[in-house]
Amino acid sequence: MDLKIAVLPGDGIGPEISTHGVNAIQAVCDKFGHNVTFSYGIVGAAAIEAVGDPFPERTFKLCQDSDAVLFSAVGDPKYDNNPSAKVRPEQGLLAMRKKLGLFANIRPVETFKCLLHKSPLKPEIVNGADFLCIRELTGGMYFGKKHESDTEAYDTNSYTRHEIERILKVAFEYATRRRRHLTVVDKANVLASSRLWRKIAQEMAAEYPEVTTDFMYVDNAAMRLIQDPRFFDVIVTENTFGDILTDEGSVISGSMGLLPSASTGTGTPVFEPIHGSWPEAKGKNIANPIAQILSAAMLLEYFNLMEEGALIRKAVKASLDEKFSTPDITGEKHGHGTSAVGQWIVEYIQRH
Ligand code: IPM
Ligand code: MN
Repeated sequence: MDLKIAVLPGDGIGPEISTHGVNAIQAVCDKFGHNVTFSYGIVGAAAIEAVGDPFPERTFKLCQDSDAVLFSAVGDPKYDNNPSAKVRPEQGLLAMRKKLGLFANIRPVETFKCLLHKSPLKPEIVNGADFLCIRELTGGMYFGKKHESDTEAYDTNSYTRHEIERILKVAFEYATRRRRHLTVVDKANVLASSRLWRKIAQEMAAEYPEVTTDFMYVDNAAMRLIQDPRFFDVIVTENTFGDILTDEGSVISGSMGLLPSASTGTGTPVFEPIHGSWPEAKGKNIANPIAQILSAAMLLEYFNLMEEGALIRKAVKASLDEKFSTPDITGEKHGHGTSAVGQWIVEYIQRH
Protein backbone atom coordinates (compact mmCIF):
# COMPACT_ATOMS: atom_id res chain seq x y z
CA MET A 1 0.00 0.00 0.00
CA ASP A 2 1.11 3.59 -0.69
CA LEU A 3 0.60 6.02 2.17
CA LYS A 4 1.18 9.77 2.18
CA ILE A 5 1.34 11.10 5.69
CA ALA A 6 1.42 14.75 6.74
CA VAL A 7 3.35 15.16 9.98
CA LEU A 8 2.48 18.15 12.17
CA PRO A 9 4.70 18.12 15.29
CA GLY A 10 3.43 21.47 16.65
CA ASP A 11 4.64 22.83 19.99
CA GLY A 12 6.17 21.87 23.34
CA ILE A 13 6.95 18.17 23.52
CA GLY A 14 5.23 17.72 20.13
CA PRO A 15 8.40 17.51 18.01
CA GLU A 16 10.08 15.06 20.45
CA ILE A 17 7.22 12.57 20.43
CA SER A 18 6.33 13.07 16.77
CA THR A 19 9.61 11.45 15.69
CA HIS A 20 8.68 8.21 17.44
CA GLY A 21 5.28 8.00 15.79
CA VAL A 22 7.00 8.46 12.44
CA ASN A 23 9.69 5.89 13.25
CA ALA A 24 7.12 3.31 14.35
CA ILE A 25 5.14 3.72 11.12
CA GLN A 26 8.32 3.55 9.06
CA ALA A 27 9.48 0.38 10.83
CA VAL A 28 6.12 -1.35 10.33
CA CYS A 29 5.88 -0.27 6.68
CA ASP A 30 9.41 -1.55 5.99
CA LYS A 31 8.48 -4.85 7.54
CA PHE A 32 5.19 -5.30 5.65
CA GLY A 33 6.39 -3.82 2.35
CA HIS A 34 4.31 -0.62 2.29
CA ASN A 35 5.52 2.54 0.68
CA VAL A 36 5.12 5.47 3.04
CA THR A 37 6.16 9.10 2.61
CA PHE A 38 6.18 11.78 5.30
CA SER A 39 5.85 15.52 4.63
CA TYR A 40 6.14 18.05 7.41
CA GLY A 41 4.00 21.09 8.16
CA ILE A 42 3.79 23.78 10.83
CA VAL A 43 0.87 24.38 13.18
CA GLY A 44 0.14 26.11 16.51
CA ALA A 45 2.55 28.52 18.21
CA ALA A 46 5.35 27.38 15.89
CA ALA A 47 3.26 28.54 12.93
CA ILE A 48 2.22 31.82 14.61
CA GLU A 49 5.87 32.59 15.10
CA ALA A 50 6.86 31.62 11.57
CA VAL A 51 3.98 33.11 9.54
CA GLY A 52 1.49 34.67 11.98
CA ASP A 53 -1.20 32.03 11.42
CA PRO A 54 -1.70 28.92 13.63
CA PHE A 55 -3.03 26.85 10.69
CA PRO A 56 -1.45 28.31 7.55
CA GLU A 57 -2.95 27.67 4.13
CA ARG A 58 0.14 25.68 3.17
CA THR A 59 -0.37 23.30 6.06
CA PHE A 60 -4.04 22.94 5.14
CA LYS A 61 -3.06 22.11 1.55
CA LEU A 62 -0.51 19.58 2.78
CA CYS A 63 -3.22 17.87 4.88
CA GLN A 64 -5.66 17.84 1.97
CA ASP A 65 -3.04 16.27 -0.28
CA SER A 66 -2.22 13.52 2.23
CA ASP A 67 -3.96 10.26 3.17
CA ALA A 68 -3.64 10.95 6.90
CA VAL A 69 -2.23 13.45 9.35
CA LEU A 70 -0.02 12.49 12.27
CA PHE A 71 -0.41 15.36 14.69
CA SER A 72 1.27 15.89 18.06
CA ALA A 73 0.22 18.89 20.16
CA VAL A 74 -0.19 22.67 20.18
CA GLY A 75 -0.03 25.26 22.95
CA ASP A 76 2.43 27.64 24.53
CA PRO A 77 2.21 29.31 27.97
CA LYS A 78 3.01 32.63 26.34
CA TYR A 79 -0.61 32.78 25.18
CA ASP A 80 -2.37 31.15 28.15
CA ASN A 81 -2.57 34.10 30.52
CA ASN A 82 -3.07 36.71 27.91
CA PRO A 83 -6.82 37.04 27.26
CA SER A 84 -6.17 39.81 24.76
CA ALA A 85 -3.96 37.70 22.48
CA LYS A 86 -5.54 37.92 19.03
CA VAL A 87 -4.26 34.60 17.76
CA ARG A 88 -3.74 31.49 19.84
CA PRO A 89 -2.06 28.18 19.06
CA GLU A 90 -5.27 26.27 19.90
CA GLN A 91 -7.04 28.08 17.05
CA GLY A 92 -4.76 26.14 14.73
CA LEU A 93 -6.13 22.85 15.98
CA LEU A 94 -9.73 24.08 15.84
CA ALA A 95 -9.23 25.40 12.30
CA MET A 96 -7.71 22.10 11.25
CA ARG A 97 -10.71 20.15 12.62
CA LYS A 98 -13.22 22.50 11.03
CA LYS A 99 -11.52 22.83 7.65
CA LEU A 100 -10.95 19.09 7.32
CA GLY A 101 -14.54 18.37 8.45
CA LEU A 102 -13.36 16.16 11.33
CA PHE A 103 -16.61 15.88 13.25
CA ALA A 104 -15.90 12.61 15.06
CA ASN A 105 -13.19 12.31 17.67
CA ILE A 106 -12.59 8.75 18.81
CA ARG A 107 -10.83 8.43 22.16
CA PRO A 108 -10.33 4.88 23.41
CA VAL A 109 -9.58 4.38 27.10
CA GLU A 110 -7.88 1.10 27.86
CA THR A 111 -6.13 -0.10 30.93
CA PHE A 112 -2.82 -1.95 30.96
CA LYS A 113 -2.63 -4.68 33.60
CA CYS A 114 0.96 -3.88 34.52
CA LEU A 115 -0.01 -0.26 35.20
CA LEU A 116 -3.09 -0.76 37.37
CA HIS A 117 -1.16 0.46 40.40
CA LYS A 118 -0.52 3.78 38.62
CA SER A 119 -4.21 4.59 38.29
CA PRO A 120 -5.61 7.13 40.76
CA LEU A 121 -8.48 4.64 41.15
CA LYS A 122 -8.31 1.40 43.11
CA PRO A 123 -7.10 -1.50 40.94
CA GLU A 124 -10.28 -3.51 41.57
CA ILE A 125 -12.36 -0.64 40.19
CA VAL A 126 -10.25 0.05 37.14
CA ASN A 127 -9.14 -3.48 36.19
CA GLY A 128 -10.67 -4.35 32.82
CA ALA A 129 -12.07 -0.91 32.06
CA ASP A 130 -12.18 -0.53 28.30
CA PHE A 131 -14.36 2.07 26.68
CA LEU A 132 -14.52 4.39 23.73
CA CYS A 133 -15.47 8.02 23.99
CA ILE A 134 -16.89 9.50 20.83
CA ARG A 135 -16.77 13.24 21.00
CA GLU A 136 -18.51 15.52 18.50
CA LEU A 137 -15.73 17.80 17.31
CA THR A 138 -16.89 20.56 14.99
CA GLY A 139 -20.05 21.91 16.61
CA GLY A 140 -21.45 23.16 19.90
CA MET A 141 -19.99 25.95 21.98
CA TYR A 142 -16.58 25.68 20.38
CA PHE A 143 -17.93 26.92 17.06
CA GLY A 144 -21.31 28.53 17.90
CA LYS A 145 -21.99 32.26 17.77
CA LYS A 146 -19.77 34.15 20.21
CA HIS A 147 -19.73 37.59 21.70
CA GLU A 148 -17.05 39.12 23.82
CA SER A 149 -16.99 42.59 25.36
CA ASP A 150 -15.93 43.98 28.72
CA THR A 151 -19.45 43.77 30.10
CA GLU A 152 -20.87 40.65 28.51
CA ALA A 153 -19.65 37.49 26.81
CA TYR A 154 -21.32 34.36 25.52
CA ASP A 155 -20.78 31.20 23.51
CA THR A 156 -23.71 29.49 21.83
CA ASN A 157 -24.15 25.75 22.15
CA SER A 158 -25.98 25.17 18.89
CA TYR A 159 -26.39 21.85 17.11
CA THR A 160 -28.31 20.93 13.98
CA ARG A 161 -30.10 17.65 13.37
CA HIS A 162 -27.60 16.84 10.64
CA GLU A 163 -24.63 17.30 12.99
CA ILE A 164 -26.23 15.16 15.69
CA GLU A 165 -27.33 12.38 13.35
CA ARG A 166 -23.94 11.91 11.74
CA ILE A 167 -22.04 11.62 15.03
CA LEU A 168 -24.66 9.31 16.54
CA LYS A 169 -24.39 7.10 13.47
CA VAL A 170 -20.64 6.77 14.09
CA ALA A 171 -21.35 5.91 17.73
CA PHE A 172 -24.03 3.31 17.00
CA GLU A 173 -21.74 1.66 14.47
CA TYR A 174 -18.84 1.45 16.91
CA ALA A 175 -21.20 0.04 19.54
CA THR A 176 -22.39 -2.61 17.08
CA ARG A 177 -18.79 -3.75 16.61
CA ARG A 178 -17.99 -3.73 20.34
CA ARG A 179 -20.03 -4.83 23.37
CA ARG A 180 -23.24 -3.26 21.99
CA HIS A 181 -23.76 -0.77 24.76
CA LEU A 182 -24.07 2.93 23.95
CA THR A 183 -24.35 5.66 26.55
CA VAL A 184 -25.54 9.03 25.26
CA VAL A 185 -24.26 11.72 27.60
CA ASP A 186 -26.11 15.04 27.76
CA LYS A 187 -27.69 17.61 30.04
CA ALA A 188 -31.25 17.25 28.76
CA ASN A 189 -32.73 18.32 32.10
CA VAL A 190 -31.40 21.84 31.46
CA LEU A 191 -30.18 22.38 27.90
CA ALA A 192 -32.32 22.65 24.77
CA SER A 193 -29.44 21.42 22.62
CA SER A 194 -29.22 18.28 24.77
CA ARG A 195 -32.94 17.63 24.37
CA LEU A 196 -32.50 17.58 20.60
CA TRP A 197 -29.59 15.14 21.00
CA ARG A 198 -31.73 12.90 23.16
CA LYS A 199 -34.73 13.01 20.84
CA ILE A 200 -32.63 12.07 17.82
CA ALA A 201 -30.77 9.37 19.73
CA GLN A 202 -34.09 7.82 20.80
CA GLU A 203 -35.28 7.81 17.18
CA MET A 204 -32.06 6.22 15.97
CA ALA A 205 -31.91 3.65 18.77
CA ALA A 206 -34.90 1.95 17.14
CA GLU A 207 -32.74 1.30 14.06
CA TYR A 208 -30.11 -0.46 16.18
CA PRO A 209 -32.13 -2.92 18.27
CA GLU A 210 -29.01 -5.02 18.97
CA VAL A 211 -27.47 -2.06 20.82
CA THR A 212 -28.53 -1.28 24.39
CA THR A 213 -28.80 2.49 24.44
CA ASP A 214 -28.94 4.43 27.67
CA PHE A 215 -28.90 8.10 28.55
CA MET A 216 -26.91 9.78 31.26
CA TYR A 217 -26.57 13.38 32.41
CA VAL A 218 -23.04 14.64 32.10
CA ASP A 219 -22.60 15.37 35.81
CA ASN A 220 -23.65 11.84 36.62
CA ALA A 221 -21.37 10.47 33.88
CA ALA A 222 -18.39 12.33 35.38
CA MET A 223 -19.12 10.55 38.66
CA ARG A 224 -19.79 7.14 37.14
CA LEU A 225 -16.53 7.25 35.21
CA ILE A 226 -14.53 7.12 38.41
CA GLN A 227 -16.95 5.01 40.45
CA ASP A 228 -17.51 2.29 37.90
CA PRO A 229 -15.59 2.82 34.63
CA ARG A 230 -16.37 -0.75 33.53
CA PHE A 231 -20.00 0.25 33.12
CA PHE A 232 -19.10 1.96 29.85
CA ASP A 233 -18.57 0.52 26.40
CA VAL A 234 -19.20 3.39 23.97
CA ILE A 235 -19.94 6.94 25.15
CA VAL A 236 -21.12 9.60 22.73
CA THR A 237 -21.42 13.24 23.59
CA GLU A 238 -21.18 16.82 22.39
CA ASN A 239 -17.95 18.74 21.91
CA THR A 240 -17.53 20.46 25.31
CA PHE A 241 -18.73 17.55 27.46
CA GLY A 242 -16.46 15.25 25.44
CA ASP A 243 -13.46 17.51 26.00
CA ILE A 244 -13.95 17.36 29.75
CA LEU A 245 -14.91 13.70 30.10
CA THR A 246 -12.02 12.47 27.97
CA ASP A 247 -9.46 14.25 30.15
CA GLU A 248 -11.06 12.54 33.11
CA GLY A 249 -11.13 9.22 31.27
CA SER A 250 -7.54 9.50 30.15
CA VAL A 251 -6.02 9.40 33.64
CA ILE A 252 -7.91 6.25 34.57
CA SER A 253 -5.30 4.18 32.75
CA GLY A 254 -2.50 5.50 34.95
CA SER A 255 -0.89 8.06 32.69
CA MET A 256 -2.27 10.56 30.25
CA GLY A 257 0.81 9.87 28.17
CA LEU A 258 -0.60 6.55 26.98
CA LEU A 259 -3.76 7.37 25.12
CA PRO A 260 -4.15 8.09 21.41
CA SER A 261 -7.09 9.44 19.46
CA ALA A 262 -8.43 9.68 15.94
CA SER A 263 -10.41 12.51 14.41
CA THR A 264 -12.38 11.53 11.35
CA GLY A 265 -15.10 12.97 9.16
CA THR A 266 -15.30 14.18 5.60
CA GLY A 267 -11.62 15.15 5.00
CA THR A 268 -8.18 13.73 5.75
CA PRO A 269 -8.26 11.97 9.17
CA VAL A 270 -5.98 13.17 11.95
CA PHE A 271 -4.31 10.93 14.55
CA GLU A 272 -3.00 12.47 17.74
CA PRO A 273 -2.29 11.87 21.43
CA ILE A 274 -4.96 12.95 23.91
CA HIS A 275 -2.42 14.88 25.96
CA GLY A 276 -1.30 18.41 25.22
CA SER A 277 2.01 20.13 24.53
CA TRP A 278 3.36 19.97 28.12
CA PRO A 279 5.63 23.00 27.63
CA GLU A 280 7.44 22.49 30.96
CA ALA A 281 8.88 19.22 29.66
CA LYS A 282 9.95 20.56 26.28
CA GLY A 283 13.47 19.47 25.32
CA LYS A 284 13.95 17.43 28.50
CA ASN A 285 13.54 14.04 26.86
CA ILE A 286 11.05 12.93 29.55
CA ALA A 287 7.72 12.91 27.70
CA ASN A 288 6.08 9.55 27.12
CA PRO A 289 6.04 8.78 23.37
CA ILE A 290 3.45 6.00 23.71
CA ALA A 291 0.29 8.05 23.08
CA GLN A 292 1.89 9.23 19.84
CA ILE A 293 3.03 5.74 18.89
CA LEU A 294 -0.44 4.32 19.57
CA SER A 295 -1.87 7.14 17.42
CA ALA A 296 0.33 5.71 14.67
CA ALA A 297 -1.30 2.31 15.29
CA MET A 298 -4.76 3.87 15.00
CA LEU A 299 -3.67 5.51 11.75
CA LEU A 300 -2.64 2.18 10.22
CA GLU A 301 -5.80 0.46 11.45
CA TYR A 302 -7.89 3.19 9.84
CA PHE A 303 -6.53 1.92 6.51
CA ASN A 304 -7.37 -1.63 7.54
CA LEU A 305 -3.72 -2.48 8.19
CA MET A 306 -4.77 -4.45 11.25
CA GLU A 307 -1.72 -6.69 11.60
CA GLU A 308 0.53 -3.66 11.26
CA GLY A 309 -1.39 -1.80 13.98
CA ALA A 310 -1.35 -4.89 16.18
CA LEU A 311 2.43 -5.15 15.92
CA ILE A 312 2.80 -1.58 17.19
CA ARG A 313 0.42 -2.34 20.07
CA LYS A 314 2.35 -5.49 20.90
CA ALA A 315 5.63 -3.56 20.96
CA VAL A 316 4.14 -0.90 23.25
CA LYS A 317 2.77 -3.52 25.59
CA ALA A 318 6.12 -5.30 25.68
CA SER A 319 7.90 -2.08 26.64
CA LEU A 320 5.45 -1.58 29.51
CA ASP A 321 5.75 -5.19 30.65
CA GLU A 322 9.54 -4.83 30.56
CA LYS A 323 9.18 -1.58 32.53
CA PHE A 324 11.22 0.15 29.87
CA SER A 325 9.29 3.39 30.34
CA THR A 326 9.45 7.13 30.84
CA PRO A 327 9.35 8.69 34.35
CA ASP A 328 5.55 9.25 34.34
CA ILE A 329 5.30 5.46 34.61
CA THR A 330 8.42 4.39 36.47
CA GLY A 331 8.74 7.27 38.92
CA GLU A 332 11.28 10.01 38.44
CA LYS A 333 14.44 8.19 39.44
CA HIS A 334 14.17 5.14 37.22
CA GLY A 335 12.77 6.50 34.00
CA HIS A 336 14.20 6.12 30.54
CA GLY A 337 14.26 8.98 28.10
CA THR A 338 11.65 9.65 25.40
CA SER A 339 14.10 8.68 22.69
CA ALA A 340 15.26 5.50 24.43
CA VAL A 341 11.66 4.29 24.82
CA GLY A 342 10.85 5.20 21.22
CA GLN A 343 13.95 3.37 20.05
CA TRP A 344 13.13 0.29 22.17
CA ILE A 345 9.69 0.07 20.58
CA VAL A 346 11.05 0.45 17.05
CA GLU A 347 13.66 -2.23 17.62
CA TYR A 348 10.98 -4.56 18.97
CA ILE A 349 8.97 -4.01 15.80
CA GLN A 350 12.03 -4.77 13.67
CA ARG A 351 12.73 -8.00 15.58
CA HIS A 352 9.16 -9.41 15.52
C1 IPM B 1 -8.32 18.59 23.10
C2 IPM B 1 -7.75 19.92 23.51
C3 IPM B 1 -8.31 21.00 22.61
C4 IPM B 1 -9.81 21.02 22.77
C5 IPM B 1 -7.71 22.39 22.82
C6 IPM B 1 -6.21 22.37 22.73
C7 IPM B 1 -8.30 23.41 21.88
O1 IPM B 1 -8.00 20.18 24.85
O2 IPM B 1 -8.04 18.14 21.96
O3 IPM B 1 -9.04 17.99 23.89
O4 IPM B 1 -10.34 21.67 23.68
O5 IPM B 1 -10.49 20.39 21.96
MN1 MN C 1 -9.11 18.62 25.87
